[in-house]
Amino acid sequence: MAIQYLFSLLILYLVTTSASSESETRYTYIIHLAPSLSQTRTRSHPPLHSLLPSRLRHPSPRHLYTYTLSAYGYAALLTPSQARYLESHRSVLSIQPDQVHHPHTTHTPSFLKLSLSGGLWPQSNLAEETIVAVLDTGIWPERPCFACDDSFPLPPSKWKGECVSTGSFNASQFCSNKLIGAKFFAKGYEAAMGHPIDESRESRSPLDTEGHGTHTASTAAGTISPDAGFYEYAHGEARGIATQARIAAYKICWLSGCYDSDILAAMDEAVSDGADVISLSVGSSGYAPQFFRDSIAIGAFGAVRHGLVVSCSAGNSGPGRYTAVNIAPWILTVGASTVDRDFPADVILGDGTSYTGVSLYAGNPLNSTELPLVYAADAGSRLCITGYLNSTIVKEKIVVCDRGGNARVAKGSAVKQAGGIGMILANTEESGEELIADSHLVPATMVGETAGDKIKKYIKSVTSPTATIVFRGTVIGSSPSAPRVAAFSSRGPNFRAPEILKPDVIAPGVNILAGWTGASSPTDLDIDPRRVEFNIISGTSMSCPHVSGIAALLKSARPDWSPAAIKSALMTTAYNLDNSGEIIKDLATGEESTPFVRGAGHVDPNKALDPGLVYDSGIEDYIAFLCSIGYASSQISVFTRDGSTTNCSAVALATPGNLNYPAFSVVLSSYTDVVTYHRTVTNVGSSGSAVYEATVSSPDGVKVTVVPSKLEFSTVGESLSYEITFAGIADPVIITESNSFGSITWSDGIHNVTSPIAVSWPKSFVSSM
Ligand SMILES: *[C@@H]1O[C@H](CO)[C@@H](O)[C@H](O)[C@H]1NC(C)=O
Ligand SMILES: *[C@@H]1O[C@H](CO)[C@@H](O)[C@H](O)[C@H]1NC(C)=O
Ligand SMILES: *[C@@H]1O[C@H](CO)[C@@H](O)[C@H](O)[C@H]1NC(C)=O
Ligand SMILES: *[C@@H]1O[C@H](CO)[C@@H](O)[C@H](O)[C@H]1NC(C)=O
Ligand SMILES: *[C@@H]1O[C@H](CO)[C@@H](O)[C@H](O)[C@H]1NC(C)=O
Repeated sequence: MAIQYLFSLLILYLVTTSASSESETRYTYIIHLAPSLSQTRTRSHPPLHSLLPSRLRHPSPRHLYTYTLSAYGYAALLTPSQARYLESHRSVLSIQPDQVHHPHTTHTPSFLKLSLSGGLWPQSNLAEETIVAVLDTGIWPERPCFACDDSFPLPPSKWKGECVSTGSFNASQFCSNKLIGAKFFAKGYEAAMGHPIDESRESRSPLDTEGHGTHTASTAAGTISPDAGFYEYAHGEARGIATQARIAAYKICWLSGCYDSDILAAMDEAVSDGADVISLSVGSSGYAPQFFRDSIAIGAFGAVRHGLVVSCSAGNSGPGRYTAVNIAPWILTVGASTVDRDFPADVILGDGTSYTGVSLYAGNPLNSTELPLVYAADAGSRLCITGYLNSTIVKEKIVVCDRGGNARVAKGSAVKQAGGIGMILANTEESGEELIADSHLVPATMVGETAGDKIKKYIKSVTSPTATIVFRGTVIGSSPSAPRVAAFSSRGPNFRAPEILKPDVIAPGVNILAGWTGASSPTDLDIDPRRVEFNIISGTSMSCPHVSGIAALLKSARPDWSPAAIKSALMTTAYNLDNSGEIIKDLATGEESTPFVRGAGHVDPNKALDPGLVYDSGIEDYIAFLCSIGYASSQISVFTRDGSTTNCSAVALATPGNLNYPAFSVVLSSYTDVVTYHRTVTNVGSSGSAVYEATVSSPDGVKVTVVPSKLEFSTVGESLSYEITFAGIADPVIITESNSFGSITWSDGIHNVTSPIAVSWPKSFVSSM
């Protein structure tokens, strides 16, 4: 502590004694400006150097981007002295150092019950007039999922975007009435690296040399690919969710990550180009930053203000609490779950016992039923790190490797390099029973923690342990039950606003088949020479574009719904029971998931088309919410962009829980605390007169009262309000956990409008467990 203090004093000393800023290293900053009235009219920004005093004008700030729609201001290379000066300038609302994020790394339409014979697909015309902006690693356009025939109509007239051409991306060849936009944003990335992009390693163009962006874009809006599959796995017709929607690819992610300055520039252009939905499978890997420092939250706010739906991944940092990112209430935050398709590969031990795992291994099968087996911990590297396995020990054996640390496919490659012939990848406590199928280079399968422990016990118990792995291909069915929430899927409570439940919904994100780049292998390992048209990968990155595609369909079918109404429809119609009729399970524990894990539940696109009622919200509501979480008007000004004029004492919500959100997260400060939230629902059913009655499933230890408990609507579009009170029941014996859960459903006999309820008990009142 003392040393750290001394060190910061030293830095301060060095900085204050350097007279000029010329010798300082420059960094990228995002500068949010207050538009003065005249500038708002002309939409021109004051030049940056004009804001600096003459002593700080050298080196001249290097301008990277100008933001006008999703944010208002600049990205520029500045010295820290220049940045410090600008921070206190009256025209500057906020200045943030640029930060880097990472991508949150088909059968799914039928699992989602989408069908041409009824429901959302026919009623949305497959979202033909809708444009999905995919902000990701770019696009590999030469894939069947991006092809369109002559029947594909011209892009909607609102479209103002374009495809840019470079040496490696020929727009007139690659773009079409399907892929209508392709751009790249690299200025922040290049500034951070300090040199231009190395074209021998990646492409300075919209071209996807990584694979992730091609996968997410084809999931959201790929056309039909009749003969898709990954080797012999998952064969059949693959199609994106919004088959006819147009795709605009904005490449923002590069080899070392995705920079805020580039993301914000792409969001800005997606708005001005005329996109309807932004799909962003990228985010922080640690805890979510404060909203006013979170460029994705700021950019999303600007996009929502212009009527776009912003759908983001919740992150892959589960199963710990508070791990969800992209958690601003105006963002649609998506967690990952399984589908009813599996790729089983069984481990059969020398003693005859067998355990089911999963695998996408596509090479020759193992020949022998009794291959020698060894635990990697006994060969120098429990995690199977390349170069650390003792090849004398693993040679010609099946190696049991623990999950965690390095990439799962890299473990198989380490085994192969050390002369091993197969791998059993065993989960540990962190990943529990969550099984992810990977396209391993050696015959390999992944087993859950329980099976892994038994296999290790068997190895210890005999002198010559043996095993084999049997690959069973693709199996669709109800065992194991689906959906189940992935252990990696990031969870609530909301780290920045515990009264806003996050994630919002879950969607398919485990073992998802979609298009892939031709520029790298399905494992992204350099030693893997394979090139594939389709790949099967997992992550909340994969669940986000499913929901982006559904949002595009909804926007098309219900053009007058706001982004909040679309979000409400998805949440209140989501389901919570799996295909065996039980509450959706959490793969981290094997037990029932909670609303902090599954949000409002699994999306149900056809039901979302006709939710009955919606909980609507607009920009003013979000500003009132930001006031209520204690943000100063100067911090809120990066959202409102009007200087420091938000009078929070006039507009703040009485409590953040009063935001008209389609879910309830109640923080009780004592065992007998009483909290009342206000809600307004709008009738979007087809018949004007409708009577809804409330049914509550009360969380343990809480008495829930709804007033009124009956809402009588007489017209379509009518809004009615209710109050819901959560009263703690003073009996500490009831509550053995820090949370309890329930739900409220408004029903008119035709529609069930369901919101989850999560109650957080104060730690001091939670009994010893
Ligand atoms: C780009 O594609 C168009 C259409 O396929 C073709 O006519 C043109 O020659 C290509 N340009 C280059 C530079 O390859
Ligand atoms: C199985 O045996 C065949 C023929 O002996 C051999 O070519 C193949 O590589 C073996 N498979 C594996 C996975 O070792
Ligand atoms: C590898 O294992 C063998 C056999 O147990 C042992 O003799 C050798 O020293 C080990 N090598 C290393 C580098 O640890
Ligand atoms: C802010 O609102 C409060 C409450 O409505 C009011 O009393 C106060 O005068 C307002 N302040 C300003 C600067 O307008
Ligand atoms: C609404 O929920 C009730 C109670 O769970 C159920 O019986 C009914 O079938 C549901 N109705 C619809 C339309 O989903």
